[in-house]
Amino acid sequence: MDRFVIRGGVPLRGTVHISGAKNAALPCLAACLLTDEPVTLDNLPAVRDIKTTCHLLATLGVGLEDQGPAPGSAPSPVRRRLRVEAQKITSVEAPWELVRTMRASTLILGPLVARGGQARISMPGGCAIGARPIDLHLKGLEKLGAQISTEHGMVVARAGRLRGARIYFERITVTGTEDLMMAAVLADGETVLENAAREPEVEDLASLLTKMGARIEGAGTSTIRIQGVPRLGGAAHAVIPDRIEAGTFVIAAGITGGDLTIADCRAGHLLTVIEKCREVGLHIETPTPTSLRVSTDKPLQAADMTTEEYPGFATDMQAQYMALVTQAAGTSLLTETIFENRFLHALELARLGANIRVEGNRAVVRGPTPLSGAPMTASDLRASASLVLAGLAAQGETIVERVYHIDRGYEHIEEKLSALGADIRRVPA
Ligand code: EPZ
Repeated sequence: MDRFVIRGGVPLRGTVHISGAKNAALPCLAACLLTDEPVTLDNLPAVRDIKTTCHLLATLGVGLEDQGPAPGSAPSPVRRRLRVEAQKITSVEAPWELVRTMRASTLILGPLVARGGQARISMPGGCAIGARPIDLHLKGLEKLGAQISTEHGMVVARAGRLRGARIYFERITVTGTEDLMMAAVLADGETVLENAAREPEVEDLASLLTKMGARIEGAGTSTIRIQGVPRLGGAAHAVIPDRIEAGTFVIAAGITGGDLTIADCRAGHLLTVIEKCREVGLHIETPTPTSLRVSTDKPLQAADMTTEEYPGFATDMQAQYMALVTQAAGTSLLTETIFENRFLHALELARLGANIRVEGNRAVVRGPTPLSGAPMTASDLRASASLVLAGLAAQGETIVERVYHIDRGYEHIEEKLSALGADIRRVPA
């Protein structure tokens, strides 16, 4: 397992280009199952979860042709272009060995049931950040007329043609909204998704589906109306930039006292994170709708933060924010409302000298505390980003083990950081 070796204390300077959004690319890849015509997807990030999803689609019989710059041949971002053709589906099963490495495999449920009337997916276990059930996905599919059963750890969904229905999400779920939107586009009649997720990635999926011929209104709001159509066709679509990668680099600038331009992003997808970082004392300008300029010209000040569904402060930015406020004067109260166990990074940050007390879904961070380099172990994707950020600010050498977690969602992050002056190198296992 690769590790990162970081020598901190270097203010980052320069321009970083943001890759395509992993969490937009995953549902868009799944949406290709809805048609037998080719779909071209652009701006795909070269991250592990995309590779895993392509492998999953290939096991279902889907043809995939990489048309963009070969990974690694171009400087990051690689911006891969894939031609995806689900002309015939030869399997409807997502096996355990794939699902356990990527829970987002559940995104094939809706499309497979809509396209061919059945899907079998290994019941995803929990993960480091929580139990992460898929009950809302399954209840929604039943509302649309699917029969759901569990056999030997597999969830089996069967249906004739799905029928439109009104589905109210008792809890806002991003991939639940995406899964059921994809199921509903081929259903007979109208489907209304209420209390739906409003994330930009949901909107991006709806944009692709509409290009394929779907009839969707209200994506990006809490109520999404879908008129089913008999079939969908091919399309070409470029996924949106990764707002979480962009937010991570905003914090990288703040925690190192640097001066960064963050290019190819969407400032409009990060408004709550930008406002909160300004409250902490980062100087953030938006020279264009697709770029940010981040610098720090005064000491950082503590600020409380609560994670919420979009457009609130993203839970995927909580770990990175915690690293930042370890360097802020005062006490910051962080409240995690989305997942039940998303403070694993706190224990590791404490090894560098951070003053953090975790109480249930709250973490109390007192700063500023000087950080000194130490070995740490990553536990999940965004926690590992937090450890890297802290290492960039720590004096001396920091080692981050198990960086395969970070490779799931960040494209060659050590190359992007090195290009900004960071002293970071990947040491292969
Ligand atoms: C998506 O996960 C993202 N993943 C996550 O990003 C992100 O943290 C999360 O949304 C919240 O924003 C992808 O888009 C691939 P949820 P998802 O369903 O859809 C509960 C990353 O770092 N819930 O919105 O799985 C659930 O337990 C990843 O890129 C149910 O109870 O999250 C959680 O408490 C990590 N039943 C809450 O809802 C269900 O059927 C929100 O989960 C579904 C969810």
